[in-house]
Amino acid sequence: MQRVSTTSLAKLKERREKIVMVTAYDYPSACLVDEAGVDVVLVGDSLGMAVLGHSTTLPVTLDDMLHHTKAVARGVHRALVVTDMPFLSYQTCPEDALRNAGRFLQEGGASAVKLEGGVDYCPQVRALVAAGIPVMGHLGLTPQSVHVLGGYKVQGKTEKAARRLLDNARALEDAGAFGIVLECIPEDVAARISASLQIPTIGIGAGVHCDGQVLVFHDLLGYSGQDVQSRPRPRFVKQYANLSETIRGAVQQYAAEVRQQLYPGREHSFSPEPLEAKTKSVVPAAPYSTLSRK
Ligand code: KIV
Repeated sequence: MQRVSTTSLAKLKERREKIVMVTAYDYPSACLVDEAGVDVVLVGDSLGMAVLGHSTTLPVTLDDMLHHTKAVARGVHRALVVTDMPFLSYQTCPEDALRNAGRFLQEGGASAVKLEGGVDYCPQVRALVAAGIPVMGHLGLTPQSVHVLGGYKVQGKTEKAARRLLDNARALEDAGAFGIVLECIPEDVAARISASLQIPTIGIGAGVHCDGQVLVFHDLLGYSGQDVQSRPRPRFVKQYANLSETIRGAVQQYAAEVRQQLYPGREHSFSPEPLEAKTKSVVPAAPYSTLSRK
């Protein structure tokens, strides 16, 4: 099995084959999305909202990202693992960016990092690429700038704003980025950017003309702490499953069965060993929770 690399993503763009990217934050989700055959697994700082219960990505720390990157990297054997540089881990200066990004590759097991912003962060992108760290850019709605943007709003709606996005995308490509996430921008603007770059664009709320698409694992699967139906879902999210309902239903059934003494049944319980077998057995059985399910 050949591993996906930054160069194989470039080839997919050349061949006009779409790139599939999805987020993952832990070992089981990483195993599942890799087995499903995605090209890129992003350890997104959406971790803050999807997993840690924050309302923005801003509280996510370098240690949070490192911890989750390690778990994801253990589960992925084919896809390219990209980790988000969290808020203030790269904005300060290229030296900080290099030191922090280096940890994601050296300790975390990621193969690339993603950072938000355009021309202002090209010195950081150049420093990382020069040190051997592949960088993915992120333009449009950049969630770490939510307070500057005044909320989670579609970006690049005027011709001037669209041209600024295109300039930033070209600057990132010139600085050595291997791809760019385009978040929440009009589809014609994303199409212009995608057509004018050699490197692939990955869209989220940016229409079908991007070179690939990314979704947050929990959005795709309808897996949330809140009631999925009552929670406002961004227009660009297509929900392919309703895991919240499945999980809630399963746990409710478990609770009911415990209360009615239907669980555990005989098949889940241990009986005393016959005397003869007891004298033969030398190795005590491992507790159930430590046994592999395979
Ligand atoms: O953090 C994240 O999940 C992301 C994607 C939305 C691209 O940056």
